[in-house]
Amino acid sequence: MTPTPLATHVLHDGAGVPLVLLHGFPLDHRMWSPVVAELPPGLRVVAVDLPGFGHSDLGHTPPTLEAAADAVHAALRHAGEGNGAVVGLSMGGYVALTLAERHPEVVHGLGLVDTKSTADTEEARAGRLATARAVEDTQTLDAVMGMPDKLLGPTSKMERRSLYPTVDHWIRSQSPSAVAWAQRAMAARPDRTDVLHRFTGPVAVVVGAEDTITPIDEAKHMVDAASDATLHVVANAAHLSTLEEPAAVAQALTELHERVVEQL
Ligand code: MLT
Repeated sequence: MTPTPLATHVLHDGAGVPLVLLHGFPLDHRMWSPVVAELPPGLRVVAVDLPGFGHSDLGHTPPTLEAAADAVHAALRHAGEGNGAVVGLSMGGYVALTLAERHPEVVHGLGLVDTKSTADTEEARAGRLATARAVEDTQTLDAVMGMPDKLLGPTSKMERRSLYPTVDHWIRSQSPSAVAWAQRAMAARPDRTDVLHRFTGPVAVVVGAEDTITPIDEAKHMVDAASDATLHVVANAAHLSTLEEPAAVAQALTELHERVVEQL
């Protein structure tokens, strides 16, 4: 089946090898803007809205990360983007690993930010399916509106209160069908640690020290699995390290990009 075209956004209009950004759940490309503001000039940055989120239609995309990865691949080709470093936060990281598995020629470097390569526990899977049913049954986002409290950490709770209305606004602007789709797709994902075993390019693993959703042990597991990985622990940040400490995340991604350019 031809994948539904996804929206791509050139966030930094540089030339050369692109840094491709895939957002977390239940957000869209806007979550990258604080990081992009900290990147060096001249670097090309393209963000993709995953199926149903932001400016992308869900269409008839099956609820799998394989379908999402194929759609990202098609969108990059359609936009004429070259191969480069692919970076994903959380759900975006699951898609980045799936892209590296299915379309390895596109991925010369991997940035895995507040994410993990392992599959869900049975309990987590059941929770996702319950959330999917709740948003479908009510056609509201009530089941996910409490998420900012989990995504942002104790430091943000004390010192960055303005992030709450921003994240709340971004979640509110997504559609219930996209949220249900993503929960089903994430629930169905297998363990992809073996993708990291096979991956030969540079990998940047970034994790907020306060992240309780995909904690540091998951980050270390990915670093141990890859042959050329660097661990970046971001102090005073949790699961949305891109918003909480954007300069530290930008530094890690800039280093990753430099490594990819060196190796091409
Ligand atoms: C995300 O930030 O994308 C989600 O927390 C991912 C997940 O639910 O596993």
